[in-house]
Amino acid sequence: MSGLQADPDSSEEPKPGKAKSEFRNYTEGKLIDRVYNTYLLMHTHQTVEFVRRKSAQYGSCSLRRMSVMEALELLDQLVDESDPDVDFPNSFHAFQTAEGIRRAHPDKDWFHLVGLLHDLGKVLVLFGEPQVSGEGARGGPPEEPGCCDPPVPPQWAVVGDTFPVGCKVQKSVVYGDSTFHDNPDTKDPRYSTECGMYQPGCGLDNVLMSWGHDEYMYQVMKFNKFALPKEAFYMVRFHSFYPWHAHGDYGHLCSEEDQRMLPWVRELNKFDLYTKQEELPDVQQLRAYYQGLIDKYCPGQLCW
Ligand SMILES: [Fe+2]
Ligand SMILES: [Fe+2]
Repeated sequence: MSGLQADPDSSEEPKPGKAKSEFRNYTEGKLIDRVYNTYLLMHTHQTVEFVRRKSAQYGSCSLRRMSVMEALELLDQLVDESDPDVDFPNSFHAFQTAEGIRRAHPDKDWFHLVGLLHDLGKVLVLFGEPQVSGEGARGGPPEEPGCCDPPVPPQWAVVGDTFPVGCKVQKSVVYGDSTFHDNPDTKDPRYSTECGMYQPGCGLDNVLMSWGHDEYMYQVMKFNKFALPKEAFYMVRFHSFYPWHAHGDYGHLCSEEDQRMLPWVRELNKFDLYTKQEELPDVQQLRAYYQGLIDKYCPGQLCW
């Protein structure tokens, strides 16, 4: 695990199949309605209370036991409804990201594994997440008693960009102008200032992020004691915090440690975003290499 103190080597850029400016287009595109609706539900229901409840519910990693490869296979069933760039199962995205990192950082095998792992927390969708008390919160069609097909799983509490709850929403949050009007926290004076319930410079470790696959996977990695460097844990935990790592918002909540970690989050993001392409990798051919990394850093049956 050499080179952990240094900034990540940014010498090689992933080569996207389309212009970089064409990624993350939230104003137009064939998937735009699906994307907007996912964010509308997310921004309506992600509150301080909701995040606390989900952390307590999933932090003990007592839902099921499975290996990393089994979790990856589950993602064959998941198309991320918040993603304007991808309309294929998330398992392919995991390998695309990992292979991009492997090409650019051949000496950092742990970083290849981070690429493979970073979105594994999305398996929550396939566990039937979320459950919110109150009507209309699922965001999918209602479950019909006796129906033999499983309900379409709602995704708003698992996928998409994250943002801090408990303080004022900053400008760069996707669709922030039009999606928070029914979120009760926006009417709560405790949560309506720049810092809200936080102290300036408190550090992201002390901030409640909207609940989703980042925090869940971080908890899984911690619970199962993955033998990875702290940068790996950090990258997974904050990779969807685009308002911070891509737009520079929420800096007033960050610590010096967060600033030290920022280049790593951005390095992962290059591959997370720009390796998304319709040409899918040959997963069978790649499995043996990644199984070796799993055996080295996070072997066996894990608690989820
Ligand atoms: Fe993600
Ligand atoms: Fe991703």
